[in-house]
Amino acid sequence: MKKYKIAVIPGDGIGTEVVNEGIKVLKTIASIDGTFSFDFDYFPWGCEYYLKEGKMMDEDGLEKLKKYDGIYLGAVGYPTVPDHLSLRDLLLKIRVGFDQYINLRPVKLLKGVETPLKNKTTEDIDFIVVRENSEGEYSGLGEWFNKGTKEEYVHQIGKFTRKGTERVIRYAFELARKENRKTVTSVTKGNALNYSMVFWDEIFHEVSKEYPDIKANQLMVDAASMMFVQHPERFDVVVTSNLFGDILTDLGAAIAGGIGLAAGDNLNPEGTYPSMFESIHGSAPDISGKGIANPIAQIWAAGGMLKHFGYVDWYNRLIQSFETLLIEKQVLTPDLGGKNSTSDVGDEICNILKRK
Ligand code: NAD
Ligand code: IPM
Ligand code: MN
Repeated sequence: MKKYKIAVIPGDGIGTEVVNEGIKVLKTIASIDGTFSFDFDYFPWGCEYYLKEGKMMDEDGLEKLKKYDGIYLGAVGYPTVPDHLSLRDLLLKIRVGFDQYINLRPVKLLKGVETPLKNKTTEDIDFIVVRENSEGEYSGLGEWFNKGTKEEYVHQIGKFTRKGTERVIRYAFELARKENRKTVTSVTKGNALNYSMVFWDEIFHEVSKEYPDIKANQLMVDAASMMFVQHPERFDVVVTSNLFGDILTDLGAAIAGGIGLAAGDNLNPEGTYPSMFESIHGSAPDISGKGIANPIAQIWAAGGMLKHFGYVDWYNRLIQSFETLLIEKQVLTPDLGGKNSTSDVGDEICNILKRK
């Protein structure tokens, strides 16, 4: 039997609540399948750990995580710990440290879910955002000058390398080919960001020539935001920078029924390091502890991990189980108009998987 070693970092707030449901579902799937199993090791890192230990993760945290087949992360963030410290020292440290340069975020309207977009259907809202995940606006570079004086100012530097830009764009084209998608749309802002985005646009143009079978489109991020809402059917694969990808995928979540239904993979495609799977929402302090967070996003992230390990059929079956749940509407959390708890939804998804 194939055994996968998974590092689990539940993190903070609802992260810990929804991760339990993802693990429940992974165990159920492994037991139905019978050919593979999981060993889960838990790491208590996050903001509570920081408040006790003065650090977000152990100094040798990356060394510890390196030996795992995958990392399953809940969410990080606590109202009393500054976000720019907590996220940089845990989430971004893993993404960058393990060169997880692809952040794959599907924007897919599931059957049974209502979109706020009038007259749009599951066929119209079905695309994948390939977000650059290792550099760009998130480089962390910059400086604070004349701090505390009237002459105070800051530089926040975006770092775009040829290697980093080429590889994410190439990944998007390869993905389009593999999934039989017709277009790749690059989203930038070359009219205002005169170095980074002009550079990106040039590289996109170069790389797109290697893929004559895929239509290459380019949009400014402002226009793309409008089009996500007015014409989501125009997108197939979207490739964009770290910051734009972050913003656009929350918008993507909104058009596909809500942030409780949006997940993504942080991939190191070469497999030199483990990849990491997470929901795209945060720790949601406003609802944490109430047991009402929607666990579907986090369970979807577990599905991403199964797909990454090669269990595409299980990924598809999991998505179908979400659709069954969402069409039946018997067991749903309040964000989707239901009255059920996080664990009720996790249990119901396991029941549906066992039914088939
Ligand atoms: P958030 O995603 O935590 O919450 C935004 C809104 O969506 C809230 O009203 C929340 O209740 C709701 N929501 C989120 N997930 C939900 C779910 N599964 N079910 C139902 N409702 C859900 O974003 P925020 O409030 O901007 O951030 C809170 C904290 O999380 C901050 O510290 C932020 O930095 C952090 N954060 C972490 C990650 C991550 O770890 N990957 C991602 C985003 C934000
Ligand atoms: C996400 C989050 C993170 C990001 C934050 C918490 C640093 O918003 O995963 O979408 O911007 O990447
Ligand atoms: Mn985000």
